[in-house]
Amino acid sequence: MILNNNTDLEKKKSLSSFSEVGEGQPILSVDKLNIKFHLRGKQLHAIRGVSLDVFKGESLAIVGESGSGKSVFTKSLIGLLDTNGFIESGKISYAGEDITNFKTGKEWRRIRGREIAMIMQDPMTSLDPLKSIGSQIKESICLHTELRGKEAKMLAYKYLEDVGIDDPVRRYEQYPHEFSGGMRQRVVIATAIACSPKILICDEPTTALDVTIQAQILDLLKKLK
Ligand SMILES: Nc1ncnc2c1ncn2[C@@H]1O[C@H](COP(=O)(O)OP(=O)(O)OP(=O)(O)O)[C@@H](O)[C@H]1O
Ligand SMILES: [Mg+2]
Repeated sequence: MILNNNTDLEKKKSLSSFSEVGEGQPILSVDKLNIKFHLRGKQLHAIRGVSLDVFKGESLAIVGESGSGKSVFTKSLIGLLDTNGFIESGKISYAGEDITNFKTGKEWRRIRGREIAMIMQDPMTSLDPLKSIGSQIKESICLHTELRGKEAKMLAYKYLEDVGIDDPVRRYEQYPHEFSGGMRQRVVIATAIACSPKILICDEPTTALDVTIQAQILDLLKKLK
């Protein structure tokens, strides 16, 4: 049942359009980023001069009080700022390429998911209640790899198992409402890793979950890394 053959992984990787980063080079680099929002005829300055570098294999935590701009900042890295928001100045580089001024959906689709994926705070907002769990993971696989049909389904089973969901063949056919909160968040993680991203942004991925499940999800993320 489990698909683990290397040619499939090669197929996946060949779709990446960014160059590999060299030793000692950050994969993601943000330099003095300023983000503002248009708000009722005024401008709200949400992000002030944030700089950071992320290197391969590294985990980086952003800590700040509610409303300090963690979500706004991380959303700007995949081009998901609300429409009234804009980058006023500063620079975002991914694998050495300046992505600060990416505007169109086409430009961002090169990055979103397959290079940088994001797990949002509330798993229900990331899953479609009308589609089966498996079809959503498979969709992500088809979008980011050349795998189709049965091959894509096999890989979806594997990802379900990877995130600790037993009986993936049965679970594949079920809908989000048949899953618990913790299981839904695992599915969101599975859809994110189905894109084989180089960077996984987690915006409080455990806030909606109870304490024991929180620990399991954090363990899972550590393992996947
Ligand atoms: N579309 C928008 N228009 C105007 N202001 C916005 C918009 N989106 C976010 N903001 C403002 O940007 C600031 C940062 O919000 P953000 O959601 O990034 O905070 P956060 O650090 O993620 O908080 P939390 O820990 O509660 O999730 C807040 O003051 C918020 O009101
Ligand atoms: Mg937030």
